[in-house]
Amino acid sequence: MDLNLFNRPEENRLLEAAWTALASVYAPYSGIRVGAAVLTGSGQIYTGCNIENSSYSLTICAERCSIYHALAHGEKSFTVMVVVTDSEQVTSPCGACRQVLAEFAPQMPVLFVNPKGVSRFTVEQLLPHLFLLD
Ligand code: THU
Repeated sequence: MDLNLFNRPEENRLLEAAWTALASVYAPYSGIRVGAAVLTGSGQIYTGCNIENSSYSLTICAERCSIYHALAHGEKSFTVMVVVTDSEQVTSPCGACRQVLAEFAPQMPVLFVNPKGVSRFTVEQLLPHLFLLD
């Protein structure tokens, strides 16, 4: 895969980090591999990957894994996330991930890359009329 898809250097750095995170995927049940990388307001990159479980619903997606990784390091603001998969079947973040991303970064752009191409939406665009408590 071309890892220089974007015009912005930081987005290409995220794509490379997300691609590297594919090496850590644990997906013996679906065989689907997803990597994610999020850039924080402090300039750090945190990666995540999907990690499945024999109790299927305990699976965590790459997107939530990466933002929880960042949150666990005390990060509070998020600038942009890049998600990559080598599966043509996966084209956009799942509903659970949209809700979690909305909690922390409703304005954040999410760049989703699969072998067919790239999509770019903010979390608010992915989850309109989102549910949040004050
Ligand atoms: N998955 C992700 O990691 N991110 C997505 O955006 C969609 C789906 C994972 C979860 C599971 O391990 C596999 O893909 C199939 O659903």
